[in-house]
Amino acid sequence: MNALTVGVVGAGRVGAVLGAALNAAGHRVVAAAAVSGASRERAARLLPEAAILPADEVARAATDLLLISVPDDAIAGVVAGLARTGALRPGQVVAHTSGAHGLEVFGAVDGMALHPAMTFTGADADLDRLPGIAWGVTAPDRVFATRLVADLGGVPEWIAGGQRPVYHAALAHGANHLVTLVNEAADVLRAAGVEQPSRVLEPLLTAALDNALRMGDAALTGPVSRGDAGTVAKHLARMPADAVPTYLAMARRTADRAIASGRLRSQDATALLDVLAHATPTAPTTTAPTTTAPTTTAPTTGSAA
Ligand SMILES: NC(=O)c1ccc[n+]([C@@H]2O[C@H](COP(=O)([O-])OP(=O)(O)OC[C@H]3O[C@@H](n4cnc5c(N)ncnc54)[C@H](OP(=O)(O)O)[C@@H]3O)[C@@H](O)[C@H]2O)c1
Repeated sequence: MNALTVGVVGAGRVGAVLGAALNAAGHRVVAAAAVSGASRERAARLLPEAAILPADEVARAATDLLLISVPDDAIAGVVAGLARTGALRPGQVVAHTSGAHGLEVFGAVDGMALHPAMTFTGADADLDRLPGIAWGVTAPDRVFATRLVADLGGVPEWIAGGQRPVYHAALAHGANHLVTLVNEAADVLRAAGVEQPSRVLEPLLTAALDNALRMGDAALTGPVSRGDAGTVAKHLARMPADAVPTYLAMARRTADRAIASGRLRSQDATALLDVLAHATPTAPTTTAPTTTAPTTTAPTTGSAA
């Protein structure tokens, strides 16, 4: 695509990194909005050639593409404010990077939703993760969106506007809740006296994730998939109380999926379903999780929100 003149509002974790990726792809980020110290630091590091300007001046300088990467709840207000002050111009493409929002936040402004299905922290290393990722795109102009995503090394996944909350819920459920599940498993291992849970978990969870992505429900192993009611009952009786409600909810859902996919035959599931039906989730306590340090080597993909 011809080199685009781009503006970024604002230079947060996503905006600064995508701006740097656009520069690397041959486009020119000429201006960015950054007010807080963190955004200014990111802009200086990742967008050293961009002028730091108020949002309306960024929009005026961005003759081809204005990237709006502000918190989800702020997008509609930012777009409306820019439109009201006449800072947006015909022919300029306006894009936001939210997963859950579609085109409704643009009001009367023509825009597109370009959500990178990846986690961003604003670190330089985020740039290395962009090649090959999927982008959840809702756009009237698919040709422009396809080229832009390709320039950033990604592949578009077309999402109907009304389905974006569902699309984003799936990513949050998979990536964010995976982090919680991994950390909960690490806590339970610590309760069993294991000093380095990540060393135990990394090979196992890496294989499980890899298998699940390739094989779907057929990847399932373990006591639920075998209908081993006694083992599951033992787990429920001995696990730290904080972990029981999550374990039980996941075991019930795992049993449903194992039966529906033919992994577990209904006639082998009776005792297991009985254990799961009669177990009572322990009331969540206010005890803080036992982990404070991240499980540094756990193979999580992190947040995609
Ligand atoms: N982080 C992720 O992993 C990720 C992944 C995919 C998509 N997204 C999406 O990308 C968007 C930005 O997320 P982020 O994680 O980059 O957020 P962030 O790091 O909190 O950055 C938000 C940026 O928006 C600016 N801002 C905040 N409130 C504003 C307002 N009312 N008006 C104008 N500017 C405002 C901030 O400026 P100051 O700091 O100067 O106040 C900051 O530069 C969101 O829609 C999010 O859903 C995030």
